[in-house]
Amino acid sequence: MTPSAAALLRWYDRHRRDLPWRIPPGQGAGAPDPYRIWLSEVMLQQTTAAAVAPRFRRFLERFPSLEALAAAPESAVLEEWAGLGYYARARNLHACARRVAAAGGFPRDPAGLRALPGIGAYTAAAVAAIAFGAPVVPVDANVERVMARLFAVAAPLPGARPRLAALAQGLLAQAAARARPGDFAQALFDLGATVCTPRRPACGACPWREGCAAAARGEAEALPRRAER
Ligand code: ADE
Repeated sequence: MTPSAAALLRWYDRHRRDLPWRIPPGQGAGAPDPYRIWLSEVMLQQTTAAAVAPRFRRFLERFPSLEALAAAPESAVLEEWAGLGYYARARNLHACARRVAAAGGFPRDPAGLRALPGIGAYTAAAVAAIAFGAPVVPVDANVERVMARLFAVAAPLPGARPRLAALAQGLLAQAAARARPGDFAQALFDLGATVCTPRRPACGACPWREGCAAAARGEAEALPRRAER
């Protein structure tokens, strides 16, 4: 049985985490601000959502727009980044802001985004999907875990990565996912972070319980496997 994208989105609408870069349900028919989405995704690259949330708010108070960030000296950006670690991220963030401000805005497609400083394949897909509604699924460790379990992929990481990414991308064949690619991506993140957790997954609370091949065999927690080194 194909896991239903509509069922996942219904779950997300009820249970999604309230995070400051998300537009609250019912508010803002407006499109998400690409600057906020990009900033959140760069902060989330190596830092948890709980740790990012307060820093994200504070960063926006100091640099409320792409133009404000681009106009600031690099030292001010590094100062504001203090404690978040991986300072190359802050330098790239600033270089990226200058490039994008000079160009008059972000590219809307993953390939254009990918060419910018500090934006890899994952971040490019996340920004394209969440800020611009591009039909792509950003695949992080959460999404890999959900796919490995849903489709009972026994092949170990990292070799299984392309296969897991293809399975995630395949879910976009469903109209419900294509209608809301940004929410679909964030629903997968939330499912991985709160239900389909690495240890002791809460399968009883999962909107995909019925269709999950690993849960059916009682082996969700054993997946994904990791190659021995
Ligand atoms: N991790 C990476 N991007 C995220 C997002 N937009 N929401 C929650 N967790 C994330």
